[in-house]
Amino acid sequence: MQSLYSNGFEKVYDEMYQSFIDYDDEYKFYSNLINKHKKSNVLEIGCGSGNLAKRFINSTLGYIGLDLSEDMVRLSKLKNPSGTFIQGDITKYALKKPLESTIITGRTSSYLLSNKTIHSALKTIHNNLTVDGILCFDFIDANRFIKSIKGGKKVYHEAYFDNKCYYRESYMKDNNLDNFMFNWDSAYYQKTKSETIKLTEDKSIVRAFTKNEWELFLYLNNFELLEFIDRKSYAFDTYVVVAKKI
Ligand SMILES: C[S@@+](CC[C@H](N)C(=O)[O-])C[C@H]1O[C@@H](n2cnc3c(N)ncnc32)[C@H](O)[C@@H]1O
Repeated sequence: MQSLYSNGFEKVYDEMYQSFIDYDDEYKFYSNLINKHKKSNVLEIGCGSGNLAKRFINSTLGYIGLDLSEDMVRLSKLKNPSGTFIQGDITKYALKKPLESTIITGRTSSYLLSNKTIHSALKTIHNNLTVDGILCFDFIDANRFIKSIKGGKKVYHEAYFDNKCYYRESYMKDNNLDNFMFNWDSAYYQKTKSETIKLTEDKSIVRAFTKNEWELFLYLNNFELLEFIDRKSYAFDTYVVVAKKI
């Protein structure tokens, strides 16, 4: 899926994912968590093309979006001229001032492939949160998901935007990789009345996690685990973690 994060394909990501993800529901879910913990501002890591950003910017919560992809940051700014977006890496960003909450949505955690990267990311997030700050993020549940793709699984997703029809053909396979990583090969197409055009394709390795792994990662990086929330997403069995900086 990384091929959709830059080189003009970020616009395709933006249009496709508005079919895949119900961003109003995402906003409601994460803003409820932030409000429940009485936090007044949020950093979104992996803000993508700024769809969740739009909802936060129109709310009373302060918002900063951060993404590794310069093209995603550019598109987010274009779509949300009054928003604050910065290019940065989850393992090494430094905000001017710590914020009270951090969210990572859309299973961006799947790109944290090695344990070393996870420790760097959690350390960086910790440094950029205020005392008692909260961290909420989702992850693909290895216990359910890896079982569901054992031996390989083809998946087809269709997306509609402004009279355009896109689709993605994916092939996912566990391949007994380290750390519950799995292969995710995908090809992206746009259908018109007369033809089907192949837009791009990619071969990614991404990671699913068990709840136990996150319990230990959080503990080792000075976060108190508050809850795991079971939350089905469009293609994956997903949990959301809520943790507090200690
Ligand atoms: C699956 S997309 C999710 C985007 C957005 N949260 C959404 O729901 O539409 C993952 C995003 O994470 C970004 N990303 C990947 N690795 C990152 C890293 N190391 N640091 C910051 N952002 C990263 C990608 O550029 C991409 O925009």
